[in-house]
Amino acid sequence: MTFPDTRLRRLRTTPALRRLVSETRLHASELVLPMFVREGIEHPLPLGSMPGIQQHSLDSLRRAAAAAAEAGIGGVMLFGVPAERDATGSASCRADGILNVATAAVADEVGDALVVQTDLCLDEFTDHGHCGVLASDGSVDNDATLAIYREMALAQARAGSQLLGLSGMMDGQVAAVREALDGEGFHDTVIMAYSAKYASAFYGPFREAVDSQLSGDRRSYQLDPGNRREGLREALTDIEEGADIVMVKPAMSYLDVLADVAAASEVPVWAYQVSGEYSMIEAAAAHGWIDRRRAVEESLVGIKRAGADAILTYWAVEVAGWLK
Ligand code: PBG
Repeated sequence: MTFPDTRLRRLRTTPALRRLVSETRLHASELVLPMFVREGIEHPLPLGSMPGIQQHSLDSLRRAAAAAAEAGIGGVMLFGVPAERDATGSASCRADGILNVATAAVADEVGDALVVQTDLCLDEFTDHGHCGVLASDGSVDNDATLAIYREMALAQARAGSQLLGLSGMMDGQVAAVREALDGEGFHDTVIMAYSAKYASAFYGPFREAVDSQLSGDRRSYQLDPGNRREGLREALTDIEEGADIVMVKPAMSYLDVLADVAAASEVPVWAYQVSGEYSMIEAAAAHGWIDRRRAVEESLVGIKRAGADAILTYWAVEVAGWLK
């Protein structure tokens, strides 16, 4: 049956009809807020690269986490910005390292109202800014890094993180961390693998957020933006290694990869709407070139429609407010 018997506009006639036939809806419970906590500051520091986002002090982090719980979002993902760095990122593994201290504080603050999550990666903690330790030739040493990730995982689990976000893109990291956690009885600590993490220019604003020391790039461990099949392969490999959740990152330029992973995955699939995606929309909205709220909602609906079960987004709390 075709026109004039079929009229596709019929279901778009009224707001009530459009609402009734809507295929994709956002829920606060599937939004996760990334948060930055900086060692040694008394008051939050606004980020020039990400309007509306700040590096938190321990106190302001606690308050913001409580507000996030109040807003009904699904979780918070914590990133630490240490005062001092070294070649092996040793502060990441110490109980008194900023990320672990902050995790304990947030877990104490919010209890079970949302899922307290931590970024498990060395880049914030190393003086060279890479996600792993370096071999003598300057390359990122995969297997030596795994040994540190094991320690970091245990430190985060002990601090009270319920979900570890493995974002370093080292081969074998999921299996290594699972084994370390299980060896110490942390059977219920969840592993969320940043499986298909692409070497992206859209991480640009995040560099300021974590005061990144990186010169150069991460192309020897993060994926080539042109590779779709390889993104799926990474996700399937992580599931085989025991990942409880897999992720595609960034989100908006990788919706095809997200759809592929969602179609093949037996575990939940998340997406990370990264700093550059946030700041692009904020910048265009600040100029008055786009309607900010509609653009934010459309971006998130697109990510969900492509197959994300949950989304990390810097707008999580604000969007939850709109959904109330
Ligand atoms: C690495 C990490 C990065 C982001 C999250 N985890 C940076 C990178 O891989 O270069 C980027 C997040 C964002 O841009 O919002 N630990």
